[in-house]
Amino acid sequence: MERDEYRRMAAVEESHWWYGTTRELLRSLVGDRLPAGGRFLDAGAGTGATGAWMADHGSVVALDFEPLALELLREQHPGIGMAAADVQRLPFADGAFDAALCVTVLCHRSIADPVVAVRELARVVRPGGVVALLEPGVRALRRAHDRVTHTGRRFSRRDLAGLVAQAGCEVVRSSGAYSFLVPPAAVKAVLERGRTSSDLDRAESGLGGILPRLARIEQRWLRAHSLPFGLSVVAIGRVPTTEMCAETLTP
Ligand SMILES: C[S@@+](CC[C@H](N)C(=O)[O-])C[C@H]1O[C@@H](n2cnc3c(N)ncnc32)[C@H](O)[C@@H]1O
Repeated sequence: MERDEYRRMAAVEESHWWYGTTRELLRSLVGDRLPAGGRFLDAGAGTGATGAWMADHGSVVALDFEPLALELLREQHPGIGMAAADVQRLPFADGAFDAALCVTVLCHRSIADPVVAVRELARVVRPGGVVALLEPGVRALRRAHDRVTHTGRRFSRRDLAGLVAQAGCEVVRSSGAYSFLVPPAAVKAVLERGRTSSDLDRAESGLGGILPRLARIEQRWLRAHSLPFGLSVVAIGRVPTTEMCAETLTP
């Protein structure tokens, strides 16, 4: 990612509408699955904008391969543990965490094979724990923001659920999110053709509060339903326990 983008992320993580509603989305999808006092991994944490909230449930280790990200994270979230490493080779023992969260990282050009990275996440989560992924949706979209963040790929809902399954986890949830942003993002992608710019530079309030309001309406819908697509896609997997394996093997 361009270095200025880390500074932008740290500067707007409290004020930019997308960060606020994404934390709310993750809390509603994952919060109940985090045991009190547990140990949680934020893989590809950046400056902690979407994962530091897990510290309300237990202890968090934020991992990133960019030292500037961890430096900014230390300033923003002093209580959080940190590890400088690649998500494709995690420096942790098997089953070291109760849950792993990974937000807009697998899309990154640095990830040679997302399956390898998700298998690593599943390896370091204990049986019965969860791996939660949120990534850019709509494969065909190529946005100016993607060029700043070095996004090499986007995912369909099915792609992301497939990664979780290929890592040996049971898919307990998969959905699109921010579906209402797909049509404007598609128009914007055409207008921006070839340009490079960050979404974080502008529209912090989200059209005077309209976008966060739409996101919250969508989140209410997501409590009981799933969406086939979205500008983001989410997938949550449960690492199998021996009983789950036995159930699968029982004819
Ligand atoms: C778009 S940012 C997202 C940061 C954070 N998860 C969030 O939602 O705000 C992507 C982050 O992934 C990190 N990253 C990308 N590839 C990585 C890799 N192979 N290993 C560790 N971190 C990586 C980048 O340094 C960056 O901080």
